[in-house]
Parts: sequence; C-alpha cells; structure tokens
Amino acid sequence: MPAFRTLDDLGDVTGKVALVRVDLNLPMRDGEVTDDTRIRAAAPTILELTGKGAKVLVLAHFGRPKGDRSSTMSLSMVVGAVQDGIGKEVMFVPEVAGEVVAQAVGILRPGDVAVLENTRFWKGEEKNDPDFAAAIAANGDFYVNDAFSAAHRAHATTEGLARLLPAYAGRSMQAELEALDKALGSPEKPVAAIVGGAKVSSKLDVLRHLVSQVDHLIIGGGMANTFLAAKGVDVGTSLCEHDLTGTANEILAAADASGCTVHLPYDVVVAKEFAANPASLRTCNVHEVASDEMILDVGPQAVEALADVLKTCRTLVWNGPMGAFETEPFDAATVALARIAAALSKEGTLISVAGGGDTVAALNHAGVAGDFSYISTAGGAFLEWMEGRELPGVAALAK
Ligand code: 3PG
Repeated sequence: MPAFRTLDDLGDVTGKVALVRVDLNLPMRDGEVTDDTRIRAAAPTILELTGKGAKVLVLAHFGRPKGDRSSTMSLSMVVGAVQDGIGKEVMFVPEVAGEVVAQAVGILRPGDVAVLENTRFWKGEEKNDPDFAAAIAANGDFYVNDAFSAAHRAHATTEGLARLLPAYAGRSMQAELEALDKALGSPEKPVAAIVGGAKVSSKLDVLRHLVSQVDHLIIGGGMANTFLAAKGVDVGTSLCEHDLTGTANEILAAADASGCTVHLPYDVVVAKEFAANPASLRTCNVHEVASDEMILDVGPQAVEALADVLKTCRTLVWNGPMGAFETEPFDAATVALARIAAALSKEGTLISVAGGGDTVAALNHAGVAGDFSYISTAGGAFLEWMEGRELPGVAALAK
C-alpha cells in the first residue's frame, strides 16, 4: 500500500479551509435519505477537522446528472441528514467554486461546516478538468479525501484536487485502506475469498485476480452455476451464462496453476419456480438437478464443508451472496456462512473484510455485520480493488 498523509499529519488548521470529499451518493426515497451509513462514515473526519478549528467545505456527488443542474439531484436534499449525522448545523452553498463559495467561506467561522452543490452538475468534474479543479482549489487551503467508495473515479474532486493542494486521507479512507491492506495487500495466510452474486460476467476480473492471491476461492450465487456447467453439470433452468463456460474453465485452470483451491457447491437447494418457500423445494446433489429445476442456494453439506475451510483460514474477503438471499429459504447458506465468519472473527482467529452493496445487505440480513472485522461502504470501488486495480483517488493521495 502506498504511504499517504492522514489527519495526524496536519499542522495548525485553525481558520483554514478544508475541502473534504465525502460520498453522499445516498439511497433516497420520496426525498428522504433511507440509509445514512455513508454520512456516519464521514462524520469522524468532518468533526475532527471542525474540532481543530478548520472551516469545512464538503464536496460530494449525487447520482449521474452528466454535467447539468438537476433539481432532483441537488445536494440541498441531504443537508438535513448531514446535520443529523454530524450533530452540527450545516450551511448549503449552491455552487462549488467562485465568488459564491468565497463569500460563504467569509461567513463561516472556524469549526463551521458547509455542503457545496453536487460536483457532477459541472462537466469538469467527470472530465477531471484541471481548470475546474483549480477553481475549486482556489477557495481551499488543503484537501481531504474521505470517499473511498468514489476513489475508482478519476474525477476533479476525487483525483484532481489532490494534485493541487496538500492532500490527506480522511479517517474513513484511512480505515478502509488499512483494512483492505490487511485483507489482500499483506494478509495473514491462509486467505479465503467468498465471491457470490448473480453473474460471472460482472466479476470475471475479480475472479482472475483472486486466484493468484488467495488459497481458497469459494464461489456461490448464480455465478457458481456457470462454473458447474463448465464442469459438465446439468444445471437445469438455473441462471447460468453458458457462453462463459470456456472462461470459467480458464479461471479454474489458472487457480490450479497457482495452488488456489476453488470450492463449488456439491449439494444445492433447488425449486421449479423462484418464489418464497415453493412447494417444489428440495435439496440434492449437483448431479441430480432435474431439467425443470433451478439452483437457488448452496446446500447444507457444502456449507458445513466451507465452514471447515474457514476455520483453517486467517483472512477472509467476501463479496456477493451465496444464494437468492432476499427470498426465503434461499438465504440459508449466506446466513450460515456469515454467522460462522462472524463467530471466527469475534474469537479473533479470522480477519474478515466484506464489501459491495448486496454483500452488506446480506450480512445485515444475517444480523452479523457488526462482528466482521471490517465492512466496506464501497460498491464499485471495492470490486475494482478486488480486481487488483489501482484506484485513482487512492493513488493521488500517495506521498
Ligand atoms: C457509489 O455510489 O458507488 C459511488 O458514489 C460511485 O458512484 P458512481 O458509480 O455514480 O460513480
């Protein structure tokens, strides 16, 4: 992991203007924030800076307005939730650069916070336009990036600003990078990865990278069906990318060559239709799936064997559910494995790091998210990290 400056490296910042990039791309319904996890993640950094007497200008994007103002994507909508999340009054500024922001800075007192408008209302953001970045930088003294979940974007406020101002990782970014380094950068071995989710096609690069990094690769979810089909198993009407069986075989061969054991389910939960508790529900060996049945979860025997694998490991990286976990009883394997990983983490024998939208929802559903060593708030950035790619927002912070 490259070395980067943290808030510990800040000198006296009383009265100085901090441009703090956070991720306020929040789930919303009817104008209300439905999950404030990302606000809570950014709160320690904002409050540490205000506690040190800085004037904090919060920069963030919301949605994909593609360079135009849109009333439905204004960050004015989330100011109330930010106030609640940090327990402090927050000013809203409908610009990100120029005189209006300069005036706001004049009004703010040391320790005050303002949220600036959605950075993606300006085309320069996604183009990483140096002039746009310079116009934002003109109102700040230093830059703090606390948005790991947007660090896979090389945009003006995630990458460009770090080149123009003294740049620091915020506390959430720091925690994320330290946890990810423990998981794949310099992990305690043996290392296991659990990769699930519907489609192999969305995680090919993740799988290709992981086989060279981990000792055990546990594949579940719909994507396991493509691997089973690649091995000649008839998966019936299961979700399966038959056109990718060749690629699946290449990944299996690469795993073999690097000494990575790939674990595919050998018993599965199947049904004739995808519905909660269907009448046709049964558990069978993967070789006994009927032509009119679909695989919807990993079976209990495989879960037991996987639990034994996890007990031998020191590190676990998890992305994606094992089955169709949103519909009962196809959540069973995900819940059981999550509970085992959580218990081993609590005992201190396993370092467990999980990330990705569905994954966090699945671990919350299992009621164990709090017992994992680290849960990433990132979706796309977590996947790109699992692909072994350099994230521009992180690279720009390197000393
Ligand atoms: C996210 O929500 O994962 C990040 O904020 C990135 O958003 P984006 O995919 O629109 O760039």
